[in-house]
Amino acid sequence: MKSKDFLSVADLTSERIKTIITNAEKLKTEGWKTQLNEKILALLFELPSLRTRVSFEVGMRQLGGQCIYLSPDEVQLGKRESIPDVARVLSRMVDVIALRTTSHDNLEILANNASVPVINALSNVEHPCQALADMLTIYEHKEILEGLTLAYIGDGNNTAHSLMLAAALCGMDFRIASPKGYRVDEKILKTAQQFAADSQSTILCTEDPKQAAEKADVLYTDVWISMGQEAEAKQRKAIFGKYQINSQLLGLAKPDAIIMHPLPAHHGQEVAENIIYSPQSVVFDEAENRLHAQKALLVDIMGGSEILMPDLR
Ligand code: CP
Ligand code: NVA
Repeated sequence: MKSKDFLSVADLTSERIKTIITNAEKLKTEGWKTQLNEKILALLFELPSLRTRVSFEVGMRQLGGQCIYLSPDEVQLGKRESIPDVARVLSRMVDVIALRTTSHDNLEILANNASVPVINALSNVEHPCQALADMLTIYEHKEILEGLTLAYIGDGNNTAHSLMLAAALCGMDFRIASPKGYRVDEKILKTAQQFAADSQSTILCTEDPKQAAEKADVLYTDVWISMGQEAEAKQRKAIFGKYQINSQLLGLAKPDAIIMHPLPAHHGQEVAENIIYSPQSVVFDEAENRLHAQKALLVDIMGGSEILMPDLR
């Protein structure tokens, strides 16, 4: 793996994640510019997307670069051509590759064989680009990250893993309520616990959504059935029934708590009807911030903060 790959939030240090968030804010609010002239990002997507694809495409254009979207049917990763060969060929032509896949192992194979940086645009294990946008969104609404409490209600999935690592790196207390059998991965939890020890924050895993939500600053949820888990839909709907963000759970959080969800959402499942449109919901800020956070990530990967400059127009 190369130092500029971004497969996991754990590839970042607490200093680097804070720099990316600060730069994302400058790019968003102060009209800061960069010089990513003519860089090309290949978007290799094996799964559907709205936010991730559009935010990368728009972000690269705004930075002066371009994207090439490669659909699953086109490349047929590992079927039409081996993953190492795809990595070698793309590395000869593009400057960075983003892969969305249900196989984190394939993502690692791609990164290990590419000579250009590889970004995780969502895998079955992590969704690190989402976590960057989430940290930016929380910072915008709360003006601080250290010392806040984030309560995640639901599946210990890709989104939860990246969020837990990011919260621990940023000094936020992280609580997760998941049913037995759907908790976060033990290895990722251990890494997050190390980050939390360094940032003097805490991590709590529970089966009780109420315990997680109590006096939280942020209530976060994600779908019960992630991409690739469609065959488990019936079983998951039955198991996750009480892991819903609704007005009762919101009543336990701090009065100014914000509600977050990476989207797409299933109203009436992980979020009660209309909760996404309540005044406390920031889900569309979160979606917009995918753009700003990923621009800052691309700057970090392809140039560093020194290529950021104030807009002098
Ligand atoms: N949140 C998110 O990754 O959305 P998409 O699946 O639409 O890209
Ligand atoms: N956990 C979800 C996130 C979608 C953005 C999934 O993997 O489908």
